[in-house]
Amino acid sequence: MAASSTRPQLNSYVGATEYRIVGATEYRIVGATEYRSGPSTLGICRDTLCICYEARREGRSVKPRTPTPPPYPSGWYCVGISNSLRSGQHRAITFMGEELVLYRTKSGQACLADAFCPHLGAHLGDGKVVGDEFRCPFHGLTFNVGGQCAASPYGKPPQAARLHMFEVIEENGLILAGHGDLTWKPRFPLGSWPEVTTRRWRFRGHPQEVTENSVDLAHLSVLHRFADLRVLNEVETVGPALTAAYSIRRRIPLMRNGVYAEFRIRAEGLGYSEVEITLPELGIEVRQWILPTPVRDEVIDLRLALTLRGPLRSIAQRAVVLSVAHEINRDIAIWQRKHYLPRPALSKDDGPIGKYRAWTRQFYQTGANGRCEVTTAERRAHTEVGAVPGRDVVQIGAGDIESVGPV
Ligand code: FES
Ligand SMILES: [Fe+2]
Repeated sequence: MAASSTRPQLNSYVGATEYRIVGATEYRIVGATEYRSGPSTLGICRDTLCICYEARREGRSVKPRTPTPPPYPSGWYCVGISNSLRSGQHRAITFMGEELVLYRTKSGQACLADAFCPHLGAHLGDGKVVGDEFRCPFHGLTFNVGGQCAASPYGKPPQAARLHMFEVIEENGLILAGHGDLTWKPRFPLGSWPEVTTRRWRFRGHPQEVTENSVDLAHLSVLHRFADLRVLNEVETVGPALTAAYSIRRRIPLMRNGVYAEFRIRAEGLGYSEVEITLPELGIEVRQWILPTPVRDEVIDLRLALTLRGPLRSIAQRAVVLSVAHEINRDIAIWQRKHYLPRPALSKDDGPIGKYRAWTRQFYQTGANGRCEVTTAERRAHTEVGAVPGRDVVQIGAGDIESVGPV
């Protein structure tokens, strides 16, 4: 079966095992038993076809990537860092494939709104915060924090002009937005700790793959080279929360036996993991957050936020951030290129990956047939965005300090 040279975003080839380049503008799909057209989460996904398209351009043969889970699971996701959004500031961001505006009112409330004005569709990224309202640049309507049109410069505000607002929570220097049907909010137990230091990376990935790291025990020794891994608490899941605790010994310069560390992990959904780390030999306690946020189809921002108590606090905090960022870079190198395997070939020493995957299912909307349904945003991503892995991905070096500006 030879396909046309047009990029076939909306088609899928069920059962295909390989795409072979057969000419400058053609490729062959091997092993397909069925061809489907239209947006689909079945069989071979659009992503596979994107890879195929890329491979065809590069003139090589590739195995198709298996479909990843839908890109926008429900949950709470970090959309910004508090100290990078001052009162009266705003910026355009992309979150879950949608263009949005993140802003802070003069009285200090962080808000996240649809970027397109409900009046006549102007992009609110060109608007501004006025007091506790947001003003559209086109006709000057202003919207309050509930999204209602509060004032018009030329008459009565149109009642139907209602701006879609996301639910936002902000604590410990993090701004989180809710996506999907949510019955919970992450707990923020931090008391008086120093300000968090943050880093951000952008790459091809999925929040489920990032959070899976917490239960993938084997990679801790191999990829991160942690020694003496011990499970202090088995993985437990209660509703949207997953907890686990481990201890390791970490090799560090000048300490022959390395340093002993305990990690207590609490994930709430796939976008928010909080890790309590104690290094008793050094008298150091760390609170760390791992925050993967879907930007658009297959592209995520991963933020690391970290604060620390102990001797030589600010030097130690900088050193720990560098060390964690170094380990995150090792993970990113794997995540960017890996395939998602719905049925991995595991051994009992791999850790409770099966239990983890069962827990993640609650974050995808499921239809009557138990299959993940495609949300409106995902469908739009399927038809409009068409991110090409490897080309559409912007990587922000080894974890950048977040700055104010378009994300
Ligand atoms: S388009 Fe926003 S006020 Fe008219
Ligand atoms: Fe890892």
